[in-house]
This record gives sequence, structure tokens and C-alpha cells, in this order.
Amino acid sequence: MSVTIKSEREIALMREAGRILSEVHTALGEALEPGMTTLDIDRLGEKLIRGYGCIPSFKNYNGYPASICVSVNDEVVHGIPNKHHVIREGDIVSLDAGVIYQGYHSDAARTHAIGRVSPEAEQLIRVTRECFFEGIRYAKAGNYLNDISSAIQAYAEKFGYGVVCDLVGHGIGSHMHEDPEVPNFARRRKGIRLAAGMTLAVEPMINIGRPDVVWMDDDWTVKTDDGSLSAHYENTILITDGEPEILSLR
Ligand code: MF3
Ligand code: CO
Repeated sequence: MSVTIKSEREIALMREAGRILSEVHTALGEALEPGMTTLDIDRLGEKLIRGYGCIPSFKNYNGYPASICVSVNDEVVHGIPNKHHVIREGDIVSLDAGVIYQGYHSDAARTHAIGRVSPEAEQLIRVTRECFFEGIRYAKAGNYLNDISSAIQAYAEKFGYGVVCDLVGHGIGSHMHEDPEVPNFARRRKGIRLAAGMTLAVEPMINIGRPDVVWMDDDWTVKTDDGSLSAHYENTILITDGEPEILSLR
């Protein structure tokens, strides 16, 4: 599949998908508290998404069994909600969610601190969010995709963090995953040139320690190899001739 340029009609639908997803994330963030299970979070997320008349895009995607990916502490992404996994004060919890509104996708992730967390964890969450904003400073028609990727990596590495290279962001639209891949690390190739009307999911996944990750036996959950904490921050954005529009952030 090649990279598509969205029409005004498609952009309007993706704006609405993004607006709804931002509301879902806000509500989930406000609901999080110690004692909840990761399955409680998934159930609430699915209910919120369906309440907006949307479809949770992750549910049954390649067999993924839930609507919200809930990844705790050293889990990087794609954690599977579980009724036995209780979240505790001091945990950091990454929530990744996707919605389909009238055939169009939005995809976004946030990492939350549960109660008081260590200063190290707090910094990781903040810097991972900042990585996204550093990256999208270059998300502009005429620039190269690699400009976004390089900026994310450079910013994370200033803090000594490990940038996860085994997973990448992606184009998004009438499918959750479209071309191009959007790495969080520089490549030797500059990648495609960005053009107005492209829609991308930019999603830094950053480890306090080494960049290496491992897959668990459930074939989904990705963890840091060294057991260090990991954070994730993602939004669906629209490339324009000026500043990018962040569709999944209100
Ligand atoms: N949000 C993930 C991504 O950006 C997709 C989750 S995979 C799923 O690629 F199976 F959980 F849906
Ligand atoms: Co994504």
C-alpha cells in the first residue's frame, strides 16, 4: 500500500475520531486508581468507545483480545488486560486505544502515574511526551519523515534513555496501519517527503534503560529486556503546510 493523501471529507471524519479518542483518554486517565485491575480499565474503555458510537479498533485485531492495551511498568506496549492484574500506587500505566468512527481510525496512547511515583518514572513519562512534541516540530509538508524520527531519538537520548526500535508508528486512515512506517529513530534513508493531507500515528516508546525489548509467551505483551520502566505517548496527526494538526488531543 502506498501513502495516501486524505480528502477534506476523510479529514473531517478523522478529526471526529480523534476528538472522541481524546475524550476517551481523558476519562480513562481520570478513572485510574490503585486497586483497579487492568481488565477494569479495558471494560471502561470499551464502554466509553462504544458510547460514542465508535468501534474499538484493537478488539480482535490479529486476535488481540481487548479494546485497550494496558502496559504496566516494564511492559512497553500491547499488554493484555487481565482480571488478576491489580494496579498499585507507584506504577506507571500506558494506555493505548484506537477507535473507528464512520470507517476512519484514530490511534493514541498516554502513560499515567498511579498516585505518587519515583522522580525517575515521572521524568520518563514527561520526556516521552516531550519526544512526541519534539518530533512533530518537523511534521510539515516538504520535510522528510526521517526529520521527525531523528528529532525524537535525539531528544530521548539526551536523557540517556533507550529508544525502542523494534516497533514503529505508522500511517493511519481507513485502516489502523497504513504506510509509511514512522520510526522513532533515525535511519540512513531520509524516508518519504511529507505532504499536506497525510495522517500519521507518531508514537515514541521510550525505556529508562536499554532499547532492547522481548515478547512474552502471550505473543503480544512487549517488555523491556533489562526490566527498566517504559513509557508510550502517541497521537494521530494531520500534516499541513504549516503546523501539524494533532487530531487526538483536545
Ligand atoms: N496501537 C497499536 C499501534 O499503534 C496497535 C495495537 S495492536 C492491537 O500499532 F492489537 F492491540 F490492536
Ligand atoms: Co499506533
